[in-house]
Amino acid sequence: MKYRHIPVMVDEVVGFLNCQPGQICVDCTVGGAGHAKAIIREILPNGLLIGIDQDNDAIQAAARALAQYKGNVHLFHDNFFNLPDILKRLSLNAVDGIFADLGLSLYQLESSGRGFTFQGDEPLDMRMNTDCPNTAEEIVNSASPASLKQIFKTYGEERWAGAIVKKIVDHRKNNRIRTNRQLVDLIRSALPQRVIARRKIHPATKVFMALRIAVNKELEKLEQFLSAAVEALKPGGRLCILSFHSLEDRIVKHRLKEWENPCTCPPDFPRCVCGKQPLVRVLTRKVRRPSQDEVTRNPMARSTCLRAAEKL
Ligand SMILES: C[S@@+](CC[C@H](N)C(=O)[O-])C[C@H]1O[C@@H](n2cnc3c(N)ncnc32)[C@H](O)[C@@H]1O
Repeated sequence: MKYRHIPVMVDEVVGFLNCQPGQICVDCTVGGAGHAKAIIREILPNGLLIGIDQDNDAIQAAARALAQYKGNVHLFHDNFFNLPDILKRLSLNAVDGIFADLGLSLYQLESSGRGFTFQGDEPLDMRMNTDCPNTAEEIVNSASPASLKQIFKTYGEERWAGAIVKKIVDHRKNNRIRTNRQLVDLIRSALPQRVIARRKIHPATKVFMALRIAVNKELEKLEQFLSAAVEALKPGGRLCILSFHSLEDRIVKHRLKEWENPCTCPPDFPRCVCGKQPLVRVLTRKVRRPSQDEVTRNPMARSTCLRAAEKL
């Protein structure tokens, strides 16, 4: 298995994590270890890198990529929302840095054969963790029309959700939808030609993203992970998150804001009586984006949003 991924904003990530020799850092989405390698170089000789990924192919790729640092690395095939459990297994109470690079790797998109892409003809799976039960095929063929529409609208912001769901429901009465190609064809047939022509993205982009988010419960897991992450940081420890679409970035942005200013007192109270103390200092007042240079070299980087905070 060849694992391909181009890590994004590596220097910025390492800078915001402010890694130092001897520190303990967690890469919660270790993938092919592009970021992990850059982090580990900063924390050697006696630092520890904990790598987590819910995709077993990624864990195998990371083990190969990090083989030379074996004594300084622990890898876990797990969902990042289980961070507290993982730290407990290592008898650790807190860590110095936590990083997550949300979304899909190039490997998952191009060569995992799990139907994340709208190219080719692959089973409609879309699970990042193939040990988990629900595939995209099951959702597309079994979810009620109302919940399919809700998925496409909420997670994909697809304005043509109703028309697409109608095509799917008509088709599945007689034929099961099994492949990405079948789903792409149904989406194309639901959209008016003028809409397809006007869209700057592939007509299936929004529905595919929505299904992937639903299959992997990405937003729920992100919420749970963020709560666990802020708890797991030492004072002065850093959190850095890369996200790739507005739904994820909104969650990260709001959480950081809430942690920085948790006071729930009405604005006209002369002083705080709720007693809630700030948990972090936000390091990215404005979201950071990749340089034009990086986007030219790696167009997949274009939608990256970086946010970071320091635990107080
Ligand atoms: C963009 S890739 C990370 C690439 C990595 N930074 C590198 O340099 O190679 C995202 C990875 O996060 C993993 N992932 C996504 N959501 C996850 C979750 N909730 N828990 C654990 N891993 C997750 C995916 O399986 C994928 O391998």
